[in-house]
Amino acid sequence: GLFYPPDPSSRGSCFIGGNLANNSGGPKAVKYGVTREYVLNLEVVLASGEVIETGANVLKNSTGYSLTHLMIGSEGTLGIITKAVLKLLPLPQQNVLMLVPFKSAREACEAVSAVFHAGIVPSAMEFMERDAIDWILAFDTDIRVEVFDEQAHLLIELDGNNLQQLQEEAEKLVGVLTDFDIGEILYAEDDTQKQVLWRMRRRVAEAVKSNSVYKEEDTVVPRYQLPQLLDGIKAIGAIYGFRSVCYGHAGDGNLHVNIIRGELSEAFWNNELKTAIRELFELVKSLGGTISGEHGIGLVQKEYMDIMFPEHHLALFRSIKQAFDPNNILNPGKIIPALT
Ligand code: LAC
Ligand code: ZN
Repeated sequence: GLFYPPDPSSRGSCFIGGNLANNSGGPKAVKYGVTREYVLNLEVVLASGEVIETGANVLKNSTGYSLTHLMIGSEGTLGIITKAVLKLLPLPQQNVLMLVPFKSAREACEAVSAVFHAGIVPSAMEFMERDAIDWILAFDTDIRVEVFDEQAHLLIELDGNNLQQLQEEAEKLVGVLTDFDIGEILYAEDDTQKQVLWRMRRRVAEAVKSNSVYKEEDTVVPRYQLPQLLDGIKAIGAIYGFRSVCYGHAGDGNLHVNIIRGELSEAFWNNELKTAIRELFELVKSLGGTISGEHGIGLVQKEYMDIMFPEHHLALFRSIKQAFDPNNILNPGKIIPALT
């Protein structure tokens, strides 16, 4: 009867260690928060071989620097996590799930902050643009959902313990959504239908992967800036000549931008595209956002870290790495760009 909320789309194949290493999110983060919010204490083997506990098995802790939170999201660069003490909640007993079609993808993005303005906090609010839907339906033909001329969908879940209250909240939600140009809402009638709708969302990444070589960006902005982000992505794509398929955790302002290789030349893919991605990330920063919401930095994104952080900030990162791992033996070369 207990509940561990972080549920990345890779659940079923990912491990808790990986979730801790990059502070995973997933659809429920919008209401419940990310991995970080559910960790009380970690056992960590340091580069020296010594073992520490980063916190204590208590619900509050104001004792010294929080190495727990420093370890979470550090992508294995500061220590090796060997135990984790997680916080659990009571499992919500009821939920309502609906798939809402929009005539315009921009309007779907605009609807996101309108829902929160109305005082509604969904337990999931996922965005899929038209291509994402088309690709998943072609990829997994067991999923049968009719789509018409809509350009995007929001998959919205409300959860709680009182079904009647949830239904009232759902009515209020629909009241907000009808201010937008939406099609007919599909309400999941039973658990089987809920599973189908969730499978549709969770397998989008696989569907994209199966279609083409791609680069996945993990942009995140304050959610009221989502429409500007989507416009910007498409405008940059038009200028540079790439196609993108966007989907993600709209309630968090977190949009996964899949740039499709398709017929693009090797030279473009390896060179010019970097300039386009830089432009995209600069846009994200100007909208008050950041370059990774939940996937982390690793090797691929570290060349863009200078967009987010001035040199004196990167220098702090380097000092932290040096303090924990003076011989650079823990996942070397990740996250922090080398001094130029
Ligand atoms: C998702 C993964 C890619 O949201 O983060 O599907
Ligand atoms: Zn995601």
